[in-house]
Amino acid sequence: MSPDPPLGLTAVKILVLGSGAREHGIVHALAREGVHQLYAAPGNPGIGELAELHQVDLTSGPMVALLARRLKADLVVIGPEAPLIDGVADSLRAAKILCFGPSAAAARLEGSKAFAKQIMEAAGVPTAGAVAAATPAQAAAALDRFGAPYVVKNDGLAAGKGVVVTDSREAALDHAQACFDAGSTVVIEEYLDGPEVSLFCVTDGHTVVPLAPAQDFKRAADDDQGPNTGGMGAYSPLPWAPPDLTGQVLDLVARPVVTEMARRGHRFQGLLYCGLALTSQGLKVVEFNARFGDPETQAVLARLETPLSGLLADAAAGRLEQTRPLIWTEEAAVTVVIAAQNYPGTPVTGGVISGLGQANAIPGVYVLQAGTALDDADRLVAAGGRVLSVVGLGPTLAAARDRAYAGARAIHLEGSHYRTDIALRAALA
Ligand code: AMP
Ligand code: GLY
Repeated sequence: MSPDPPLGLTAVKILVLGSGAREHGIVHALAREGVHQLYAAPGNPGIGELAELHQVDLTSGPMVALLARRLKADLVVIGPEAPLIDGVADSLRAAKILCFGPSAAAARLEGSKAFAKQIMEAAGVPTAGAVAAATPAQAAAALDRFGAPYVVKNDGLAAGKGVVVTDSREAALDHAQACFDAGSTVVIEEYLDGPEVSLFCVTDGHTVVPLAPAQDFKRAADDDQGPNTGGMGAYSPLPWAPPDLTGQVLDLVARPVVTEMARRGHRFQGLLYCGLALTSQGLKVVEFNARFGDPETQAVLARLETPLSGLLADAAAGRLEQTRPLIWTEEAAVTVVIAAQNYPGTPVTGGVISGLGQANAIPGVYVLQAGTALDDADRLVAAGGRVLSVVGLGPTLAAARDRAYAGARAIHLEGSHYRTDIALRAALA
């Protein structure tokens, strides 16, 4: 027997950290393999139907390592960015626990926009021109250098909400000032025209395995109106994308970045999320994340037929060159996020959610939970901004869309809202 039997073939214990629909999507994919013992911390009521839930301070590497030891976890998958930036992966590796997720040093690719720009410059990766600013005067000069539309980014973690794209110089300056007031600096960028694509690249720091490209819808309202959010929906595949898109991203972006990180001693082991704009001057990087994207994961993993556990464990163990080639269903997947009243502002929580059973009973539909909780009467209630992700699978994007929206319509949560145009243009194309 090989000393390291590949996961994805044998039953193992897997601990997933996080509590969003992304983590529910990951747990859902692992549960489809049908053999593993699954744990999540802290999870949510939906994840709790598939995995045993545990409480742990996700910002404490030592506490997470202790929990993983106690559960005898064979693999820990870190969902959100905050524990990565806090070094939870470092603590797990130090405790010799197999972990999918980059070190704190490598996760700076997401944690600092300025660091990401340095790496891209060193690796020759195409991206928007950018200037860091720490004072209102610097911000004003940078805005005038690039002109409208203005792009102002908080140089730190902001859960997708730290970016303002606006034609108003005043609104751009106001956002910069708000970031300064909060003790942060900003990055001001050249505006990138063209559609956005998210490509998830699983890497062990050397080999890079791309997942299927997806598209996210960041604005709160239909027709890309309203404020930026963490993401209101996603779909995969992208019928309109150039056929060599994935190859281009690997050659121009993912491999050079992974190589540059390794060269600096910050081996990136986990998921490199490449957020790209397909501009009139070719593809350019909008952002990197150091983890699976939310809600793209819900659409992408819905289509993955290869056991996810094997892929993640091979990346975590540094043997990705041996991993099995990925197999994708021919079906398309669409995910629609149901958000609580007032999201992305302060969401209204506590509203009772009903209709999940009806939605889950629709063929090709399943509902993933994010900001949910059980109240004292054991009713499912809203407990966050993005409450649910409804996933629809179908032979075409149009069919997947119809199913996802049939699922969304079956669900009731007072005051909630969702976009009605997720994947609409792609399905019509
Ligand atoms: P980020 O947090 O960097 O991903 O930015 C959030 C969203 O803001 C992106 O998904 C884009 O829709 C938009 N955005 C960010 N940077 C730019 C840019 N340079 N040009 C145009 N839009 C951008
Ligand atoms: N979907 C955007 C993100 O995960 O940051």
